[in-house]
Amino acid sequence: MDRVFFHGNNKSPEEIRLALKSGVGRFVVDNIYELELLDYLSGENQLQARVIMRLTPGIEAHTHEYIKTGQIDSKFGMVIENGQAMAAIKRSLEMENIVLKGLHCHIGSQIFELDSYNHCASVMMDFCADVYNQTGWMARELDLGGGLGIYYAEGDRPPRVREYADNIIRIIDEKARLSGMATPRVIVEPGRSVCGPAGTTLYTVGAIKEIPGIRTYVAVDGGMGDNPRPALYQARYEACLANKITQDPVQLVSVAGKCCESGDMLIWDIKLPYVEAGDILAVSCTGAYNYAMSMNYNRLPRPAMALVDDGVADLILERETYEDIIGRDRIPERLAKRGGQLKNIASAG
Ligand SMILES: Cc1ncc(COP(=O)(O)O)c(C=O)c1O
Repeated sequence: MDRVFFHGNNKSPEEIRLALKSGVGRFVVDNIYELELLDYLSGENQLQARVIMRLTPGIEAHTHEYIKTGQIDSKFGMVIENGQAMAAIKRSLEMENIVLKGLHCHIGSQIFELDSYNHCASVMMDFCADVYNQTGWMARELDLGGGLGIYYAEGDRPPRVREYADNIIRIIDEKARLSGMATPRVIVEPGRSVCGPAGTTLYTVGAIKEIPGIRTYVAVDGGMGDNPRPALYQARYEACLANKITQDPVQLVSVAGKCCESGDMLIWDIKLPYVEAGDILAVSCTGAYNYAMSMNYNRLPRPAMALVDDGVADLILERETYEDIIGRDRIPERLAKRGGQLKNIASAG
């Protein structure tokens, strides 16, 4: 647990108590409300919470609008520019049950432009120097969050990890030296770039509908329930027919999910070999933000997951059943009775 960082913009008292008892490594405190609550609950449990403070450095990462989080108008973090962050740090330094270890930011996801990170490292280090000058407190840890982009589809140009690391370390080292601070321990939180490319989703093709002169829809046995990203923010994917991998692409189709939303489309306009019902469509790069984001919209059960390693596949998550989906539904007794009456009326009628 010591290596766990507890994130979130609205941690509940129950979650905070559990985290304190479990001994999580760092609370990534998102706002002043949480800071006060954490101080209070830590005192109540006679514990001290080790904290890094989540800040919004005002960086607009070059990524999709909905997954930008470092800009000032964000639900996450405390703003540097308007003094909120400085006030929170000063307050935390007065608190008995809070041990402030460092600062954190996360400027977005699926970022390709290393300049955004360079700018971010620079703003954060300038702020560390400001805090040092005003309070004498030195950030021993600097967490720059995650966000490194990966290849999903043509046109995506992921940055190189080495270049990313070299750049930020150079900036942090230099800024620390210029302001007379020790270089903080640098922490990053890559998610998608670690596990995204490891996943592939296999769908079975069902209904195929051609609208002559317009489009051919190929519907699969999943969709926004197992991958909400295309519907949420027009995420793009590539795919192939796993059972026709040696055949040339000859047909332009669009891949539809099976939910009752016109927006439930997995891929618009992809060239595939001639598609037939029963074909297996493999969509690549689904290892991040798929299972974690999946849902039971339309009360569709979620698929199974297998781990493939060295040519061996093991089931690591069982397919959901209808029993899983409705097993926790409850019909209040008084309504169940009314349902019975209605059934009697219906059969009498
Ligand atoms: C605070 C924080 N850190 C790290 C990540 C991981 O981001 P990514 O998967 O884009 O690297 C996220 C994703 O939402 C996040 O909110």
